[in-house]
Amino acid sequence: MKRATSELVRRLDGLMPETALVLGSGLGGLVSQIDAPVHVPYRDLEGFPQGGVSGHAGELVAGTIAGTPVIALSGRVHYYEHGKADAMRLPLEVLKAVGVRRLILTNAAGSLRQDLPPGSVMMITDHINWSGMNPLIGEESDARFVGMTAAYDAEMAAGFRACAERHGIALAEGVYMWFSGPSFETPAEIRAARILGADAVGMSTVPEVILGRFLGLGLAAFSVITNFGAGMTGAELSHGETKEMAPRGGEVLSRLLVAALGERN
Ligand code: HPA
Repeated sequence: MKRATSELVRRLDGLMPETALVLGSGLGGLVSQIDAPVHVPYRDLEGFPQGGVSGHAGELVAGTIAGTPVIALSGRVHYYEHGKADAMRLPLEVLKAVGVRRLILTNAAGSLRQDLPPGSVMMITDHINWSGMNPLIGEESDARFVGMTAAYDAEMAAGFRACAERHGIALAEGVYMWFSGPSFETPAEIRAARILGADAVGMSTVPEVILGRFLGLGLAAFSVITNFGAGMTGAELSHGETKEMAPRGGEVLSRLLVAALGERN
């Protein structure tokens, strides 16, 4: 971690972002919003995961968005790639070590609500982790007993909500349920998820939220809806559809993030 941290500090060349973004499947387009970007491939940062999912670039991009210094992780590693729920622990620890205080997580997700069609953006206000996995399994300190009552920072959420309203950006809110993937859910699982109180389902983000709380970072998270959940329309789901549809909602989310980060100045 020390080597990756000092290499990143060197590459940042004095830039000191307090905000980091994690960009999900098909959302790498947000990188184009970063001014004066410095691209650092994960392979240059010791211990950073080498992701292998198409639609995920695997690089860190630092710069400014609307004048606010940011670091974006374009490409994350998922539990389903290697069976490691803590795959993102080292990158998040490095971000914290270089001064990041706030984490904005993004993902592509399936919708469980008719009023949340593909192309919508949902701010995650809470989550359900029924995967049985946890990135803190194996952590030995008492710090592993992380409180999750206020996992998603209420102040950050209020800021995004108000910003969306001011700019006329449609922003839904709801509960995200983590499924391990990589197979998509069955229609019965989607019906169960709805009964349990979920609004969207996906294969990421929750491990990073738990790790982020563990590290004391402020957290906000957004789902870009790429499809209705399995069985809701009769259509089969595919990663191709996720990649094709994510940029649509991704464009809305970009506008929101640019507006919100601009207001931080
Ligand atoms: N399920 C799980 N993950 C997803 C989905 C989905 O329907 N769509 C995009 N990511």
